[in-house]
Amino acid sequence: MNRTALSMAIPLILFCTSWLTASAQTSTHAADAEGHPWWQNAVFYEIYPRSFADSNNDGVGDLNGITSKLDYLKDLGVDAIWISPCFPSPQVDFGYDVSDYENIDPMYGNLADFDNLASEAKKRNIHIILDFVVNHTSDQHKWFLDSKSSRTSAHRDWYIWRDGKGPGQPPNNWVSTFGGSAWKFDPTTGQYYYHYFYPEQPDLNWRNPAVKDAMFDVTRWWYNRGVAGFRLDAVDTLFEDPNLQDNPIAHPGKNAFGDPFEQNKYNTKLPEVHDILRGLRQVADEHDAVLIGETWTADVAELNQYYGKGNNELQLPMDFLFTMVNKLSPVEFRKQIAEVNGASGWPTFVISNHDIVRSYDRYGDGKHNDQIAKLMAALYLTLRGTPIMYYGEEIGMKTTPPTRREEVQDPIGRKGWPKEKGRDGERTPMQWNSSENAGFTTGKPWLPVPPTYKTHNVADESKDPDSVLEFYKQVLKLRHTNQALLDGSYSAINENDTNVLSYLRIYKDQTVVVALNMSGSPQKLNLDLKRNGFSSATRLVATGKSTAKGDEVSLEPFGVFIGQLAK
Ligand code: GLC
Repeated sequence: MNRTALSMAIPLILFCTSWLTASAQTSTHAADAEGHPWWQNAVFYEIYPRSFADSNNDGVGDLNGITSKLDYLKDLGVDAIWISPCFPSPQVDFGYDVSDYENIDPMYGNLADFDNLASEAKKRNIHIILDFVVNHTSDQHKWFLDSKSSRTSAHRDWYIWRDGKGPGQPPNNWVSTFGGSAWKFDPTTGQYYYHYFYPEQPDLNWRNPAVKDAMFDVTRWWYNRGVAGFRLDAVDTLFEDPNLQDNPIAHPGKNAFGDPFEQNKYNTKLPEVHDILRGLRQVADEHDAVLIGETWTADVAELNQYYGKGNNELQLPMDFLFTMVNKLSPVEFRKQIAEVNGASGWPTFVISNHDIVRSYDRYGDGKHNDQIAKLMAALYLTLRGTPIMYYGEEIGMKTTPPTRREEVQDPIGRKGWPKEKGRDGERTPMQWNSSENAGFTTGKPWLPVPPTYKTHNVADESKDPDSVLEFYKQVLKLRHTNQALLDGSYSAINENDTNVLSYLRIYKDQTVVVALNMSGSPQKLNLDLKRNGFSSATRLVATGKSTAKGDEVSLEPFGVFIGQLAK
């Protein structure tokens, strides 16, 4: 979990004609059309099950709700859905506190509903990815209940138990990322247990081979039920320094929870993490499955470690560095794309998820948000790599945080208020239509439906050819059928342009140009076709008045032009 700051800046430089100098930053990793694995060209879509569709009208979304929307997802152009945790859970962290890995929480349905979802998804060729919470369980999991029952219980060593430094003093200075000490004293056995997240989420002891076996078996169990892979939650945090050395203080001051800013040197990103990822990958390979990672990394070198040497760890570690470019800056995006394009594995692009402010607000300027939403869609859906969408992005859903502490559902929001308002804002119900509660439920929705459902919803946008939704559909359709977008190399062009981000995707004799105007003023891009060996540029997908005439691409403010270059 990592919160991205809400910040943006729009370059305001006027009209510019600049020439295309393809810096031949062509990748050495272009995928071969023949023989690439299923996940490489798939479009993934994250569903936050509480908020997607409520079939029994209790105010919380469920699996049957998801099943009822499979046709919508298919029509949109989705090939795989990643369902955030839907396992039995006390819901302290809304499912990221699992009390049974091999079942479905009754609030979401049951295993029969899951099987039905899986078979309906299969009919539509949609793969199902589950969210595997690997670092911790719920404190209500039977393993932990046994573990805490006595110092000699069978599961004692399945978690991290230690003596305090002295009366009332935890074993070291580690703070929980959700606030307060990362150690909780348990009076029954007189020891502390470790929790990187909430105290209700005790960390598993991955140094214990029994833990490893049990958790690996969980993946087998779901693979045998038809699951096509996992998104691995919080992978950084699996191991801790066995000597429990104190973490250094990163800089002075206190965070939103009143804790010191620690550098998580001794409790994150330990090398042993990679042994486990290699093991999980072996099991995944036996089932032709994909592993996606929640990999918050400082740079691409660190991201490379998650692919593993010889690509034997995660196939799709998410590139969160991309989400940290929080302004419409061609310069910054170009740099970030070039870096990840040179990574040792296939890039994985994400612009929003259930932990960060939605892209609509991170990039939107308050006036042109819909145009900017289309611009961002054109960006992450035409890059060389696998995109992971987040529900609601395709209709321009806005982050709608609570306005009062009493309304907050996410515990970190109550704890850190007002500096940290929690993650409710990006988890509000999906906006299906303009009827009450946006067609999500007829009950009382667990989070309020944002007022924007009147203007941004699936039903109305489906009828409007200029909507964000229709634009998403067009780009996704193109992406599925255009070999250059699927398998082509990536080459940045016009690299000095500070308003327009443009690039070529080249596959054999096919070339696609993508031009994205990240400024609020009209821009032009000269393709100098002849000099580059082309005869014409034809529009494939573009917004509004953005066109190509002769050598010139004209882009409206925040305009998009995707075109085919003919020889
Ligand atoms: C991940 C999840 C986040 C959750 C945390 C603890 O960061 O994305 O939602 O709170 O792990 O499981």
